[in-house]
Amino acid sequence: MSLISNTAATGETISLAGVSKTYMTAKGPLPVLRDINLDIKAGEFVSFVGPSGCGKSTLLKIIAGLVSYDTGTVEVGGEAPREGREDIGFMLQQSVLMPWLNVSKNVELPFAISGRRNGNTPKRVAELLDLVGLTPVAKLNPWELSGGMQQRVALARALALDPGIMLMDEPFSALDEFKREFLNIEVAQMADKLGKTTLLVTHSISEAVLMSDHIIALGANPGRVVGEIKVDLERPRRTNMVGSARFQEISNEVRVALAADLEGVQ
Ligand SMILES: Nc1ncnc2c1ncn2[C@@H]1O[C@H](COP(=O)(O)OP(=O)(O)O)[C@@H](O)[C@H]1O
Ligand SMILES: [Mg+2]
Repeated sequence: MSLISNTAATGETISLAGVSKTYMTAKGPLPVLRDINLDIKAGEFVSFVGPSGCGKSTLLKIIAGLVSYDTGTVEVGGEAPREGREDIGFMLQQSVLMPWLNVSKNVELPFAISGRRNGNTPKRVAELLDLVGLTPVAKLNPWELSGGMQQRVALARALALDPGIMLMDEPFSALDEFKREFLNIEVAQMADKLGKTTLLVTHSISEAVLMSDHIIALGANPGRVVGEIKVDLERPRRTNMVGSARFQEISNEVRVALAADLEGVQ
């Protein structure tokens, strides 16, 4: 089945119940997440916003099976988290591309690593490059690309094995605002089209509103859910929605949830 023509929801569900996490550090135990309960539907786009250090990256790493948790249960696509799952694509703030491989070869990497490279792979890589608008630069090296283009390569690579779940940890924060908004819209539309369950960590409230179905506001020390905001803007999302009254209202709801928590601890 072609990735591009696939309009069925291929996303997976994610649920967390009573999840807590404490890191053991040289200075003693550091509680970072407390009693996290989440039910994310297949194909849903959910953003996490909250102050630095409130455990957002830890939460994504728990879902990806990269970090253990102390209490509660986590189900990702109906299974316990496990490292190295092919049904999870992960995108970080830095693109982490292999500098000795060109764009096309970087996107091909997951096929090689997973042992799934076959006669169909060049066609799939070409489709992925087309999807993220990189066909004209397929033979360039990563350092010849702008930051935005590098993140597109990282996006194509994360999508390579057609995962049901995309985890994105501040993937746009190193980009300037104009490029960022442009990519926000593109990625939101792509997520609609591909039907993947997408979790985005961001510092930007407007990015979260622009892209998501739901926003989870997290408070700090330890990280916990302080607000769940539904984004009822129509899809496909468009840049000009940012100026709408509804957009401002939803942004304010997020701001109020975050501020209420900050005021509570000061
Ligand atoms: N492996 C680790 N060992 C000990 N402390 C950690 C580790 N990873 C993160 N932390 C600490 O846990 C807290 C939450 O980190 P993180 O999940 O990265 O937060 P966020 O992504 O919201 O900024 C921070 O205080 C951070 O310093
Ligand atoms: Mg982080």
